[in-house]
Amino acid sequence: MIVGVPKEIKLGEKRVALLPTGVAAFVTHGHTVLIEQGAGENSGITDAHYTAAGAEIIREAASLWERAGLIIKVKEPVAQELDFMRPEQIIYTYFHLASSESLTRHLMTRQVTAVAYETIQRPDGSLPLLVPMSEVAGRLAVQKGAFCLEAGNGGRGILLSGVSGVKPAHVVILGAGVAGQNACHVAVGMGAHVTILDIDPARLRYVHDIMGGHVTTLMSNRATVGEEVENADLVIGTVLIPGARAPVLVSREMLRRMRPGAAVVDVAIDQGGCFETSRPTTHNDPIYREHDVVHYCVTNMPGAVPRTSTYALTNATLGYGLALADKGLERAIAEDSALRKGLNVYQGRVTHKGVADAFGLNCAEV
Ligand SMILES: NC(=O)c1ccc[n+]([C@@H]2O[C@H](COP(=O)([O-])OP(=O)(O)OC[C@H]3O[C@@H](n4cnc5c(N)ncnc54)[C@H](O)[C@@H]3O)[C@@H](O)[C@H]2O)c1
Repeated sequence: MIVGVPKEIKLGEKRVALLPTGVAAFVTHGHTVLIEQGAGENSGITDAHYTAAGAEIIREAASLWERAGLIIKVKEPVAQELDFMRPEQIIYTYFHLASSESLTRHLMTRQVTAVAYETIQRPDGSLPLLVPMSEVAGRLAVQKGAFCLEAGNGGRGILLSGVSGVKPAHVVILGAGVAGQNACHVAVGMGAHVTILDIDPARLRYVHDIMGGHVTTLMSNRATVGEEVENADLVIGTVLIPGARAPVLVSREMLRRMRPGAAVVDVAIDQGGCFETSRPTTHNDPIYREHDVVHYCVTNMPGAVPRTSTYALTNATLGYGLALADKGLERAIAEDSALRKGLNVYQGRVTHKGVADAFGLNCAEV
């Protein structure tokens, strides 16, 4: 198969979908790998590294998309890439389709096959391609939240850790999954006073067990979320319903009752966001204020630390990518139920229930 890796062009996105070691793996399996010129430079990988691993460097994105049967990317295709898609091409990337009806419909019209990293799901319910980026985003959320709380950025002027004789910040984390737990580790490590909420008692029990008395764990419901958010300096939203739009847990009314200069980091913004007042932002212009609360809503947070993120991501994506190239889509998904769950659009039809439900479309059986 011809595998193509375009340079990411979403604003502020500096990751790349394949390392030179990944190129070598595809080449060893008998495939041709095309890498767009400069695709790895923001992650510290040169064209020469790719060439040495056996890749062909392509100058124009259009000709790479034209030749490749399997496109491996990091982020969902953006406007300039939409016309490059062609029928039966497999695109393997993060799509987050439940938050974009226009992209979903475009993929259907173009008859491309969309395999979404974020919905590949193992039988135990885990999401192996979301985990590494959720780890990064969860940890980074605290760093970004600390930045938002600085007075110069419109925040309350509070240091997360406090100092001797002065209270630390109160950090509230919505969702105790991968991103939430990682945010929790870093926030506790920085000395903040942390409360974490989830609807899954097992997740809360796990956090309680590993963090001991350093964290307050609470069952998530409307009343408790309202109380906690009102008293928070920083709220980090990390809730997820796989494949579906994120539930809105913090209404505009709740936000209005927050302390002036408090901050929210909506990690779940890539799935539509869990604050009513969230709207997607970019690395170039990441924060805005609404009702006197600083919002950070960057949809591709790991892109801020590409050297860490590229390696963490490609460690997880390579195996499934090789399976798609080696076996072809049909056999690869027949033999792997996790990969089958990654199939979102096939032959013009939506095949993921969460995405179909988000837009009132029929979900085709795979
Ligand atoms: N912005 C970014 O750059 C970025 C990067 C990585 C991940 N993400 C997003 O972060 C989110 C979290 O990812 P994850 O891997 O941690 O998911 P996860 O499945 O591990 O955790 C999500 C948690 O949310 C909980 N939850 C669901 N509904 C809830 C509710 N009403 N109240 C409280 N908790 C609730 C679930 O029980 C689960 O524990 C996803 O939307 C993911 O797409 C964003």
